[in-house]
Amino acid sequence: MLTSQKVIDAINEQIGYEFSASLQYFAIGAHFASEALPQLSAHFFQQAEEEKGHALRFIKYVVDAGGRVVIPAIDAPKSKFKTAREAIKLSLDQEIHVTQQINGLVGLARKQNDYITINFLQWFLTEQLEEVSSMDNLLKIIERAGDDLLQADEYLARVGVRAMPEPPAQRE
Ligand code: FEO
Repeated sequence: MLTSQKVIDAINEQIGYEFSASLQYFAIGAHFASEALPQLSAHFFQQAEEEKGHALRFIKYVVDAGGRVVIPAIDAPKSKFKTAREAIKLSLDQEIHVTQQINGLVGLARKQNDYITINFLQWFLTEQLEEVSSMDNLLKIIERAGDDLLQADEYLARVGVRAMPEPPAQRE
């Protein structure tokens, strides 16, 4: 096996967190669909697919590294929200929590001089920066819209959730 059982166990746990995040986003997407907010709904359904993709990346890594995939039990997601803000704040807190979990995995791999796992986890660190930033921005958009959620939904259709465009590519 290319890594330790300790790292495999921690990644198996992380697979559960990623599926849990995916279920939470499906639940939030369904909530916004019921509220007739199609852009917000589509955004969360897409996030749900991305989280599923994260779980699959970890599953592939465990298999490639010669470990055994053991998917843990996953709690039911929260499905009822009093306000849009509540659902998006929960999502932001979840992304911050997942970032801490990825940092924890990097810390564990470092302790064991497991450079293959450290290298694999780099992608997730970059991804978390983007996800925390865009969820934080979405929270600001919703807070600015106040009760006018339709306006927020239309804004998302026109502009999206990014706070700023990508910087220009560097010349070689
Ligand atoms: Fe897979 Fe957004 O954490």
